[in-house]
Amino acid sequence: MNRLHPQIMYASVREYLQELEESGVDGLPFEVALQQSELSRGREAEQQQPAQFSTARPQTLDELFKRIGDCQRCDLSHGRTNLVFGAGYEKARLVFVGEAPGADEDRQGQPFVGEAGLVLTRLIEAMGLKRAQVYICNVIKCRPSANRNPHKDEINTCAPFLTQQLQIIKPEVIVALGTFAAQTLLENKEPISRMRGQFHSWHGIPVMPTFHPSFLLHNKENKQHYWDVWSDMEQVLRKLKLPVPEKKKRA
Ligand code: URA
Repeated sequence: MNRLHPQIMYASVREYLQELEESGVDGLPFEVALQQSELSRGREAEQQQPAQFSTARPQTLDELFKRIGDCQRCDLSHGRTNLVFGAGYEKARLVFVGEAPGADEDRQGQPFVGEAGLVLTRLIEAMGLKRAQVYICNVIKCRPSANRNPHKDEINTCAPFLTQQLQIIKPEVIVALGTFAAQTLLENKEPISRMRGQFHSWHGIPVMPTFHPSFLLHNKENKQHYWDVWSDMEQVLRKLKLPVPEKKKRA
């Protein structure tokens, strides 16, 4: 019988465990864990030196960021200038999730810093908050070139990092900005106009889908969309038991 060298076998088990973790699995049934530990028993060479690589789930955003590293897991890596991980407060009560970085974000390595970012910043400030008090990130961490829609395999590769960000931050409320973020988080194909205006749930955390800031920008003449977004944010503030600033509709 062909036998795998223990070091090769151990490396592939490690890789497999890392893939599981990146897709959000945080434990294995006892029997599987036992098999894995039996597999690793024969690795004399490894035992002589401390492990170079930890399969433990990242506990902080910084650890997760390092784990993602100079990501080459999908084709989006070829066209990016910077990976846009996310920004804000690690213990934020409120997280905003967008779609993917645009050209400005790709250049600066920060989420929502272009035109749509200005709209988002204004919204956050209108809520009586500062960007530094919330956390802002995207489902996809690298800019799809020419702003094309991300492909299924790119979403499947990248979305687990959003899952891990949210598991680390443990926000009390998530705002999904636009169709793509809402459909990815809620795993459905509903139009945003049907999802917005009420809370949904992501692993028990309330999710408020709302229109994307770019949509507001491209439909400036329709003020009703702004009021819809504001009414969604009023619900978010109430859920967080924060004061709701009064906004008067101008005729
Ligand atoms: N649009 C997004 O969805 N995310 C950004 O970071 C910028 C624009």
